[in-house]
Amino acid sequence: MTRIVYVNGDYLPEQEAKVSVFDRGFLMADGVYEVTSVLGGKIIDFAGHAKRLERSLAELDMSAPVDQDELLTIKRELVVRNALIDGMIYLQVTRGNPGDRDFVFPDPETTPSTLVMFTQSKPGLADNPAAKQGLKVISIEDIRWGRRDIKTVQLLYPSMGKMMAKKAGADDAWMIENGHVTEGTSNNAYIVTGGKIVTRQLGTDILHGITRAAVLRFAKEAQMVVEERPFTVEEAKAADEAFITSASAFVMPVVEIDGTAIGSGKPGPIASRLREIYIDESRKSGL
Ligand code: PDD
Repeated sequence: MTRIVYVNGDYLPEQEAKVSVFDRGFLMADGVYEVTSVLGGKIIDFAGHAKRLERSLAELDMSAPVDQDELLTIKRELVVRNALIDGMIYLQVTRGNPGDRDFVFPDPETTPSTLVMFTQSKPGLADNPAAKQGLKVISIEDIRWGRRDIKTVQLLYPSMGKMMAKKAGADDAWMIENGHVTEGTSNNAYIVTGGKIVTRQLGTDILHGITRAAVLRFAKEAQMVVEERPFTVEEAKAADEAFITSASAFVMPVVEIDGTAIGSGKPGPIASRLREIYIDESRKSGL
């Protein structure tokens, strides 16, 4: 079955889905993106991702190509046309194709933004065996730019981080700034220590994860104590548990950091419970 991709109003076979070499997403990484998961054919956390997209666009003075209702219609259409059961929908908006290369932003009246969406099928996404084993992470310096709260497509350093992890025999990297963990290469980072779930507070130094917001809400509803503050790698090594959250990994336990086992070295009860709650609740509320 040929994948059907959405490009600026058209649903096209993937071989025909193309954007210009002059597109600012390609030339300048002048674009933002969102990844939403699909479970059992339902789109997870749609409202949160749509709202964050609007915020990313506004922060960069980029116009929204479609409104939230149209966005949902397109996403649903892609799920149907691709017979997607479990997987992801990738969405990217760029500042469009001004017809040449120029650092100055083009006039949005004459250069409309580019909107692309495609699906990625991941059968059994919620039963990822990695959740039973847990992830190994390494720590690396966070050398990204200062507006990590905007979900831009500048993903070179996160990609390099994943490669550094792979080379070190690990699964992912946690990034460190001024001695404290900011976040994972493509996820938010947490530890469980002294009976509390600790994760960095929101700011311009991390992405405001949509999964993070949902998981913290579920944790509080389950009477778990949440502390939003920075933590160090040393604190993580001495913690009882660690985990990450993202739209594609949901809640995923972390069992090792820089070669040191965390807690028992196995996925902890709080991470496992939060994963279960998040997946159950998402299946119920998906659109
Ligand atoms: N990444 N932090 C970073 C740097 C991220 O790239 C992501 C998401 C998150 C988690 O955000 P959310 O819960 O809204 O997915 C945190 C996506 C999944 C990606 O790039 O594939």
